[in-house]
Amino acid sequence: MCREYTSLDKQEIEKIKEVSRQLQLIADLTGTNVFIDCQIKDSTNAIVVAEASPSTGKTLYHEPYVGTVVYEQFEPSVFLSLRTGKSVLFNKAVTQRGIFVKQSVTPIKNDNGQVIGMLIKEENEPREMERMKSLSPATEMLWELFFFTDHERPALSDIMKEHFILVDASTNIVYANPSAKTFIAEVYNIDGCEGKPAEEALPFIKPVIHSNKDLVIEEIQVAKFFLEVKKVDIYKQDQVKGMLILIRDVTDLRMKERELVVKSVVIREIHHRVKNNLQAVASLLRLQIRKGVSEESRGYLTDSLNRVMSIASVYEIILASDNVDNDEVDIVGLSNKIAQMLIQNGGCEQTALELRCHGEQILADSKKAVSIALVVNELVQNSIKHAFKHRSSGVIDVRFTRQESDVTLSVSDNGTGMRKEVKRSLGLDIVKNLIEHDLSGEYYIGSSSTGTTVIVSFTLEQEGVKEYEEADFTGGR
Ligand SMILES: Nc1ncnc2c1ncn2[C@@H]1O[C@H](COP(=O)(O)OP(=O)(O)OP(=O)(O)O)[C@@H](O)[C@H]1O
Ligand SMILES: [Mg+2]
Repeated sequence: MCREYTSLDKQEIEKIKEVSRQLQLIADLTGTNVFIDCQIKDSTNAIVVAEASPSTGKTLYHEPYVGTVVYEQFEPSVFLSLRTGKSVLFNKAVTQRGIFVKQSVTPIKNDNGQVIGMLIKEENEPREMERMKSLSPATEMLWELFFFTDHERPALSDIMKEHFILVDASTNIVYANPSAKTFIAEVYNIDGCEGKPAEEALPFIKPVIHSNKDLVIEEIQVAKFFLEVKKVDIYKQDQVKGMLILIRDVTDLRMKERELVVKSVVIREIHHRVKNNLQAVASLLRLQIRKGVSEESRGYLTDSLNRVMSIASVYEIILASDNVDNDEVDIVGLSNKIAQMLIQNGGCEQTALELRCHGEQILADSKKAVSIALVVNELVQNSIKHAFKHRSSGVIDVRFTRQESDVTLSVSDNGTGMRKEVKRSLGLDIVKNLIEHDLSGEYYIGSSSTGTTVIVSFTLEQEGVKEYEEADFTGGR
C-alpha cells in the first residue's frame, strides 16, 4: 500500500513496517484502536496503511479502516502532526464515521528527521452521551432551520447555493433542496426528482454513491460544469441508513484558475519574445563587427552590444525562475552575470582580472532591474577599459548592501584611478541619468592612485508605496 499510494522510499517503508509490527501490542496494552496514516503522494490527503484493535477490550470500529482516505477537515490533528513533526495528544475529534473519540497522534520520522507517517491512537470519548444530550436541542434547532419553512421564512436548505441531496439506503432521493432540483431539471430535464433513483437523476454520482467508503470527496466534470461532490454515509446503530450528498459548483473557480494559467503562459511568451528580439539585435551588431569596421566604430558597436546583452540578462533571469508572473529579479545575481559576461568578452586581454561579487539576494521589479543592469554594465566596463592600462592583474569588486528598502551598490577597482581632467562621455551620462531619473537615487565617484570607487544609493519602494505613487503620478513616461 505504501508503494502504491505514497512517495516513501524502500528504507522509509521498512521503518513503517517495523512500527506496524508493534501495533497489536500497543493496542492491547492501551486498550485503544491504533493506526498508521501516511500522506498520499501528490495529494493533501492521507491513507490508513495499518491498524490494530485491542483484542483485550472493546473496539471502536467494526469495519476495517486500512485503505481509507483521511481528509484534513475530519482529522486535523493528524495533519498538524504531519506538518509540525510534533505529537498532538488527547485531542477530541469526531471521526469520518461520526464517532466521538479522544485522539493522540505522534509522528514517525525517517533517519533525516522528516515525517513519513503518523501513529494514531483513538479511544472512546467518555462524555459522548452527555455531549449528545446537550447536542439534542441544538440538533432540533438545526433540523428545523434546515428543512422547515413557512410562507414568510425560507429554510436554510432553500437558500443554500450548494446542491443538497438526501438519499435513502436503496439510493433513492428522499430530499433535494431547490438549488439541486433546479440543477437536475436544467441539466437532465427531470422535474420532481424526489423518489427517483439518485443515479438516474444525477448519473455522474453513480461511482460516488456505490463507493463503500463512508466519506467521498471528488471533483467531477460534467459537460461544462466542474462539480465538487461530497458523500457522507448516514449511520444508525451501525447500519447505513442513507447518505447525504453535497454538490458545489466550482466552475467559476476552475475557469479563473485556467485564466491565470493562460495569463502566465502569455507573460512568459512576451518575456521570451523580448529576450529573443534583444538577442537578435545583439547578433546583428556582432555580425557588423565581424564584417570589418574601423577600430573606432568597433569600440562603439561593442559598447552597444554589451548594453543590449545586459538588458537581455534581465529577461533571461526572469525566464529561468519558476514564477514568471511575479516580475522580480535578483539584482545581485544579475550584476554578477553581467560583470562575468563583460570580463569574458574581453577588452582587457593583457590583464588577469579577478571579479568579486558580494551581497545577499535583493529583489527588484524588472523595470528597476533593467536600469541597474545598465548602470553595472557601464561601471564594470569602465574598470575593464580604463583602470588597468599596462597592468598585469587587477581586481573589480561589485558589492551590494541593503538596509530595509535602501540599497547601496559599490563598484570599485584597484586600478590607476581617473585622470584629473576627465572627459565625460556617454557611459557616465547613462549612469547619471538612470540613477537620478529611473532609480531616484544618488551616486558618488571617488578616485585616487589606488583605484576608483563608484557608490550608488537608491531605494526599492515597498509594494503599497509604489501603487500609491503610480496612481497619483500623471507625468513621466
Ligand atoms: N574605473 C575607471 N578607472 C579609470 N578611469 C576611468 C574609470 N571610469 C571612468 N574613467 C575615465 O572617465 C572617462 C569617462 O567615462 P565614460 O564612461 O563616461 O566614457 P568612456 O568609458 O570613455 O566611453 P563610453 O561612452 O563608451 O562609456 C573615461 O574616458 C575614463 O578616462
Ligand atoms: Mg564608459
